[in-house]
Amino acid sequence: MANTKVLVTDLSLGVSRVPLNYVRPISDRPNLLAVQSSDHSIPVIDLQDLNGPNHSNIVKEIGQACEHDGFFQNHGIPKKVIESMLKVSKEFFQLPEGERLKIYSTDTSKTVRLSTSFNVKTETVANWRDFLRLHCYPLQDYVHEWPSNPPSFREDVAQYCTNVRGLTLRLLEAISESLGLQSDYMDKVLHKHAQHMAINYYPPCPQPELTYGLPIHADPNAITILLQEDVPGLQVLRNGMWIAVNPTPNTFIVNIGDQIEVLSNGKYQSVLHRAVVNRNKYRISIPTFYCPSPDVVIKPAEELVDKEHPALYRSFTYSEYYSKFWNRGLATEKCLDMFRATEYNLDA
Ligand code: OGA
Ligand code: NI
Repeated sequence: MANTKVLVTDLSLGVSRVPLNYVRPISDRPNLLAVQSSDHSIPVIDLQDLNGPNHSNIVKEIGQACEHDGFFQNHGIPKKVIESMLKVSKEFFQLPEGERLKIYSTDTSKTVRLSTSFNVKTETVANWRDFLRLHCYPLQDYVHEWPSNPPSFREDVAQYCTNVRGLTLRLLEAISESLGLQSDYMDKVLHKHAQHMAINYYPPCPQPELTYGLPIHADPNAITILLQEDVPGLQVLRNGMWIAVNPTPNTFIVNIGDQIEVLSNGKYQSVLHRAVVNRNKYRISIPTFYCPSPDVVIKPAEELVDKEHPALYRSFTYSEYYSKFWNRGLATEKCLDMFRATEYNLDA
């Protein structure tokens, strides 16, 4: 009975068809033939000179990418760090089932857990994905909770997290400047900062046209820095069309999350995206979700609110937002829709 497997990694080994609880309704299937290929459509920004004489041009490029695309790609972390991260991720998902299941949990508040789909407690159709989620900042608060198998896991992942945080801080400065805010605006707003990571593992799927790795959603955090191995699967929605973001080695996909949409008062919008699966090869993707600390009150930056640009969102704490996100599930309507300002609370 294949359906008794908890993780799709193990389930996928014994099935030649997608079990019924993974099959999407006909109106909500990936329609893989209608997807365009990205090749030139996601801007690539070279951050090398961000602290050099070309600073203001790069800030402008970042601003334009955030405003028009919501997505861009860049490099910025040593290749060795990326390679070790990908290698240890693969090794983790190749551990025996029993070893992986030791850290399985469906409790979305846990700071370390292996899980499957998105939120198995609330969703009606499952997704073809397993994922290991880790909190990673401040590192010393969390690293001791992380898996110690594979043996190099903690060291390799810690290296990676520290590097991604450095890159993210540089991006947040540039994004603040590109909005005409003080360069430390985002840094201050995020307060103590939080950094979460997922290692997504999408096993090969016998019927990829019937299910998703992850259905359409926008990310609830401030900004996401995604690393993907060489197998495609990420798609972004642009002008009503799905665009496949094909992987380029050692390159990150950066996307604006819901919190920057609010802080920028809608000038930069979080982008809807999804992950599809394929018949032939497993896929690993590693998003870093950079977030405010839970107690932070998020609202549009005062500098970006005036008569012509009234506040589009009400204020809320990040923890309120985050729990709504996990409880409502992934959907075309953004979670942000629940936080839009109404006439009643426009001035609040
Ligand atoms: C996510 C996500 C895309 C991917 O984890 O939020 O959008 O390519 N992942 O795995
Ligand atoms: Ni996402």
